[in-house]
Amino acid sequence: MSRSAHPAGPRHADVWPEGHYSAPPADLNALDAKVWAQTVTRTDTGEVSVGGIGVAALAEEFGTPAYFVDETDFRARARAWRTAFGHDADVFYAGKAFLSRAIVRWLHEEGLNLDVCSGGELTTALSAGMPADRIAFHGNNKSTDEITQAIESGVGRIVLDSFQEIVRVAHVAQSLGTRQRVQIRVTVGVEAHTHEFIATAHEDQKFGIALADGQAAEAVRRALTLDGLELIGIHSHIGSQIFDMAGFEVAARRVVALLAAVRDEHGVELPEIDLGGGLGIAYTSDDDPREPHEIAKALGEIVTRECEAAKLRTPRISVEPGRAIVGPTAFTLYEVGTIKPLEGLRTYVSVDGGMSDNIRTALYDAEYSVALVSRTSDAEPMLVRVVGKHCESGDIVVKDAFLPSDLAPGDLIAVPATGAYCRSMASNYNHALRPPVVAVRDGEARVIVRRETEEDLLRLDVG
Ligand code: LLP
Repeated sequence: MSRSAHPAGPRHADVWPEGHYSAPPADLNALDAKVWAQTVTRTDTGEVSVGGIGVAALAEEFGTPAYFVDETDFRARARAWRTAFGHDADVFYAGKAFLSRAIVRWLHEEGLNLDVCSGGELTTALSAGMPADRIAFHGNNKSTDEITQAIESGVGRIVLDSFQEIVRVAHVAQSLGTRQRVQIRVTVGVEAHTHEFIATAHEDQKFGIALADGQAAEAVRRALTLDGLELIGIHSHIGSQIFDMAGFEVAARRVVALLAAVRDEHGVELPEIDLGGGLGIAYTSDDDPREPHEIAKALGEIVTRECEAAKLRTPRISVEPGRAIVGPTAFTLYEVGTIKPLEGLRTYVSVDGGMSDNIRTALYDAEYSVALVSRTSDAEPMLVRVVGKHCESGDIVVKDAFLPSDLAPGDLIAVPATGAYCRSMASNYNHALRPPVVAVRDGEARVIVRRETEEDLLRLDVG
């Protein structure tokens, strides 16, 4: 189809508004398996279903907006990571991507460990039965209460992020009469090619202790002298939504070099390294993520090679994927409310959610795709911007995408790959009620996080 046929767009391709879109897809009804959860399919009636249940029935029962997570897909991805890394390595799911008690149970059943970064995440994990020794506790400013809660509950490791924290954790552990297993988080000086706000291993940022100027070696020196700490390893997390393995390889090399320096200075071989999370997923058809087995192979090889060269025993490796496990497993279902064609520009499609259920577009300029899911359509594609209902012009869900030009109020549209950092970063802006998360599997749907109610909002308002 030619771009000039676009009903609300400019008349000529060379004056189309700026954006990241490519030409309209050949078939607007097709669902690219790269961005949709495993059991999502378009049925014979034209409606999309997940786990065997059509979206109209889901919208009817659970309302919109709502997040639907494909439990089969989640478990398959968790298992793929577990299998890829095998018995000599550990996979810690990063709970910040999305955490609920059902998720904790699935992870436990699939043999994964869990990374938490707050007292709230720790409480959720423990309340759903994750054994404490399979939990890693993170954060660049853990409170003394959080440190105490983590040590008392027996977490497997605390990842130390600053010189103050080394002393703080040692002190709390000692006062509780115990020795806490810890790792030290280092910044390896890698520029990860991702958005500035989610890159974490260059030196000018708040996380970790720098390798470059000997700070990390000094942190190891201090940790080794404190009775309350058992230093078990070094941790590095270089950033998020990364496709290029080169950054991880440099990080692995530098972390192993630190292990060798520690061995040379202290005669101690630290037994573990953690290379963090950050593996990218497909938000649009243009993204090409790596499979867990490729990642495991690349990381395993580089660590083994570097350790052999340094004559070190190969440490136990762990990784912390969050987005790569939960991200692709969910979509957000919205109902179309209003449609506003702006002649020569694009068509604004307003849905019943927005930046309160997905802040990533506004915050990181994140790209998403979108599809009409309650029916098929043979109408011409139109260039749309999917926006929310908030009092903010930056309230954009999908910046540039194509939907059929016969789109109408009441249609259901869905944004795939919203499993990570959407519900977990949701807000009550404009007193929006945060949407539910519904797990779907084998023809059954059940709420795992319920929709907020106005009573929930008023319960906090005690003035
Ligand atoms: N480990 C550590 C220490 C982390 O800080 C993070 C993410 C992860 C693992 C998991 O990263 P993942 O595999 O999910 O990329 N809100 C941002 C992402 C912030 C990530 C923070 N830390 C977003 O929506 O893109």
